[in-house]
Amino acid sequence: MRHKIIAGNWKMNTTPEEGVKLAQQIVATINNSDSKKVILIPPFTHLSAVQNSLKSSQNIYLGAQNCYYRDEGAFTGEISVPILKSLGVKYVIIGHSERRQHFREKNEVLAEKVKACLKHGLTPVYCCGETLQQRENDSYIQIILNQLREGLFHLDDKSLQNVIVAYEPVWAIGTGRTASPKQAQEIHELARSFIRDRYNNETSDAVHILYGGSVKPDTAAEIMHQEDIDGALVGGASLNAADFNAIIEAA
Ligand code: PGA
Repeated sequence: MRHKIIAGNWKMNTTPEEGVKLAQQIVATINNSDSKKVILIPPFTHLSAVQNSLKSSQNIYLGAQNCYYRDEGAFTGEISVPILKSLGVKYVIIGHSERRQHFREKNEVLAEKVKACLKHGLTPVYCCGETLQQRENDSYIQIILNQLREGLFHLDDKSLQNVIVAYEPVWAIGTGRTASPKQAQEIHELARSFIRDRYNNETSDAVHILYGGSVKPDTAAEIMHQEDIDGALVGGASLNAADFNAIIEAA
């Protein structure tokens, strides 16, 4: 049975002190008896401090924005999944379009990262989505299917059921131009049917698929009430506790 998930990706924003304050504001207003899951995803440097602020909450979890796929070793500047796990991280964003674009991460390396997360019991939040050019030249469906195939389809069905997929059209990220509920639902349905074809009904029904790209309090409800949309990956609006709480309420 799927439930709603609302994840806040803070990206490279806030100092540790500001991050703790933001987490505390979110914790203070959230409804603990709710069946929704909320994930806060601060920069690496804030993980411990933010985790401390989440202790009193039952449905807010800690996430990281990236990881490396090796467990340890001479990989200067990288952070492994065991390190994240030791800090209380439960979710890791893999293959955000900003990492694909600015750090040239390809599906092959992302597949390794997905594997590393699952090996240590963390949930990957695997991002896919097309650029504006790919949408306009009609290659977007192929692009998204390829990202899913190359990044995820090495997994067996039980493992895939532990992955969260996030559909984030690049043209909607940080632009204020959100996909229409119909456009988003179309891709979510397609992704789910693609998973069904490759695996089975049980797996496609179990996988959570989030939408991301300029989700705001006023657009959140309609997007998240689409049949195949299981929640949102929120960037900009997650940096404001009132907006983020309004999105959680809308779910
Ligand atoms: P946005 O970012 O909500 O600011 O568009 C979403 C994301 O990149 O995850």
